[in-house]
Amino acid sequence: MPPQLSLFELPPIPGQPASVTFLPSGKSIAVAVGTVLLEAIRQAKLPVAQSCGGFGICSWCKVRVIEGQENLSIPSQPEQRLIQRQSFKPNERASCQAEILGDVAVTTTYW
Ligand code: FES
Repeated sequence: MPPQLSLFELPPIPGQPASVTFLPSGKSIAVAVGTVLLEAIRQAKLPVAQSCGGFGICSWCKVRVIEGQENLSIPSQPEQRLIQRQSFKPNERASCQAEILGDVAVTTTYW
């Protein structure tokens, strides 16, 4: 018998909208589930640092997740190495690696 999922355990549906809020301004945009966080930042026309082209190497695109950490994809292998090498705090993610699966709120030191 296949496992039963409750409504709260259903996986996100790619293409469905999710909200990304950028703090401290509170600017919010809607993006499709599956959008990479770095792309959402660009869509919001906010500055974001990067030097590796989004390959999870430089860590310059790091953001702090204020709400909805559970609504981001689990860290990719490159991001896991980056998190360990750069001693990320538990709520910090490489925006070029994190896919948006639901509503999130993020910030950086330079917004
Ligand atoms: S852009 Fe380099 S780690 Fe994200």
